[in-house]
Amino acid sequence: ASYDMGGHDTYMHKEISEQADAVDRVLRGRIDDRFSTVHLGGLNLDPREARGIRRVKILGCGTSYHAGMIGAGLIESLARIPADAEPASEFRYRNPVVDPDTLYIAVSQSGETYDVLAAVQELKRKGARVLGVVNVVGSAIARAADGGVYVHAGPEVCVVSTKCFTNTVVAFALLAVHLGRIRDLSVTDGKRIIDGLRKLPSQIQEILDGEEDIKKLAAEYAEAKSMMFIGRVRGYPVALEASLKLKEISYIHAEAYPASELKHGPLALIEPSLPTVAIVPDDDLLEKNRAALEEIKARSGRILAVAHTKQEKADHTILVPKNEDELDPILMGIPLQLLAYHTALAMGRDIDKPRNLAKSVTVE
Ligand code: AGP
Repeated sequence: ASYDMGGHDTYMHKEISEQADAVDRVLRGRIDDRFSTVHLGGLNLDPREARGIRRVKILGCGTSYHAGMIGAGLIESLARIPADAEPASEFRYRNPVVDPDTLYIAVSQSGETYDVLAAVQELKRKGARVLGVVNVVGSAIARAADGGVYVHAGPEVCVVSTKCFTNTVVAFALLAVHLGRIRDLSVTDGKRIIDGLRKLPSQIQEILDGEEDIKKLAAEYAEAKSMMFIGRVRGYPVALEASLKLKEISYIHAEAYPASELKHGPLALIEPSLPTVAIVPDDDLLEKNRAALEEIKARSGRILAVAHTKQEKADHTILVPKNEDELDPILMGIPLQLLAYHTALAMGRDIDKPRNLAKSVTVE
């Protein structure tokens, strides 16, 4: 595909920069203020069925799997349905128990990823209900699913996904409010999340406007041979996605760990030449996250925090605007897309077409 780069040097930069508009698009026409809920036209799930769901299992690959992890957290916390995400390829090969009360959700930007499609087909063959959270309209996964939510990120050309990741997570937030309001999410909490969703486009723009500062930081971290990313609960998938982005386009080795797992092994790696990027939202886990920063500092590790308030233990803090706790991961991922981008740029990498990768993996 060739689309106009609109004055940007790479599609990745264009797509990162488009995120405020993209999020606006996924929200448009879906919010119902009268009932503080969300309407999703293509879901094909009536309220009685929605009340009968006992579990949600989300399947995807790569970045879409990470978006699904955040989606599972949103569904579990807002709709109070046990939910988890799993790589589609793992799921298909472990002969999973397919349960009639489980709602399966397949996540895919392209809608053509073979492992995801094969998982959907296997599920359908066993009589499961499968929804799609897909970007490309009319794609194979969208067609194979019983219904779903389009992500409306617009065309994504760069091999690595940025705006589609963000929009997919927002689509999950919409789905979580929808399911929640049919179940036990109160009007006030529904409204709280909806108000938070509406703030996202301007807050995203605020982060994007800080690009120059992130670029300077990237120049410092581009010298690293390896980087550690940590986060806790909602922050962990953000760390996973940020480390994947960095690996894909800069070829710097990166690992992501739940912050709490550091002391169970990876702390052995920490020394001045291994910088850590820490996701530190101002929520009920703030003190726990600060304790992890202290552990790293005590081993002379360099720390770059992505946080709502300046972190004393960190060498640098990238400040992001605060939203509702549940929606913070959406915003915290964005500066790290820019960090990966500028790191790769400083290293002269072929950003839109990283080596060994294809935009969608349509074979096994
Ligand atoms: C994203 O940066 C990657 N290129 C990759 O992990 C991708 O997310 C994965 O292959 C799944 O693709 P899909 O969303 O089109 O199904």
